[in-house]
Amino acid sequence: MPVPHDIAAERELWDAYAGSARNDVTDAEPVFNWTQYKGHGPGPELLGNPGSVLEIGCGTGRALARLAQRGVKARGLDLSPVMVENVSKRWGPLGVEFVCAEVLEFLSEDQATYDAVYSVFGAAWFCDPGRLFLLVAQRLNPGGVFAFSQPPAIPGAYGPQGMYKGGFAGPALFTYRYGYKPEVWARFLTRAGFREVDVRVLEAPVPGHIGTLIATASASG
Ligand SMILES: C[S@@+](CC[C@H](N)C(=O)[O-])C[C@H]1O[C@@H](n2cnc3c(N)ncnc32)[C@H](O)[C@@H]1O
Repeated sequence: MPVPHDIAAERELWDAYAGSARNDVTDAEPVFNWTQYKGHGPGPELLGNPGSVLEIGCGTGRALARLAQRGVKARGLDLSPVMVENVSKRWGPLGVEFVCAEVLEFLSEDQATYDAVYSVFGAAWFCDPGRLFLLVAQRLNPGGVFAFSQPPAIPGAYGPQGMYKGGFAGPALFTYRYGYKPEVWARFLTRAGFREVDVRVLEAPVPGHIGTLIATASASG
């Protein structure tokens, strides 16, 4: 059953997140990490050698800044106007372009294509993959890469999972994040037409800590 995303309310939630992450933007250095652990796991090589990228749900924009430093044409998309204003100031001078939009709406209308589309704990975690993956496939150049990372699903908690804004007090702002076993993510990707699909959970650097689900796939053509 699809869940009722209220995009205006989700925007408010992510604006609040952007306010609390303001220092992560102003004091940040460019860095590309797929995992939640500094210096752990693979880097941008998972994207191949792209000339152009789109990060969906780019948040602080640090990964895009790192790619822009390497000469990649880097575009980031985020739902939060507060975040987009902050990251445009911080990373715009490096040539990164930011768009404030809801990803499903944006990809339905955007005509641009990219060598890679990716999400790091970003929009691929917060959108119905049955809708998102088809749209991403249409916006990739032939052979282009789609990659995303996020926490693995909690055992037994699959599909859309409601998530309140932190604190459990104040306005009832919530969003949905999506959790599946790796083989189910792989099935969504294959159904959307991707090939060379690989979805796995990378263990945390400390045994027993939360790992990272990492998915990569290529567009056909
Ligand atoms: C956990 S944060 C991103 C983390 C990011 N990798 C970073 O380094 O900050 C998730 C981001 O996804 C964005 N987001 C969530 N749902 C979205 C949607 N439907 N469309 C576009 N962006 C979305 C939020 O605004 C938020 O900035």
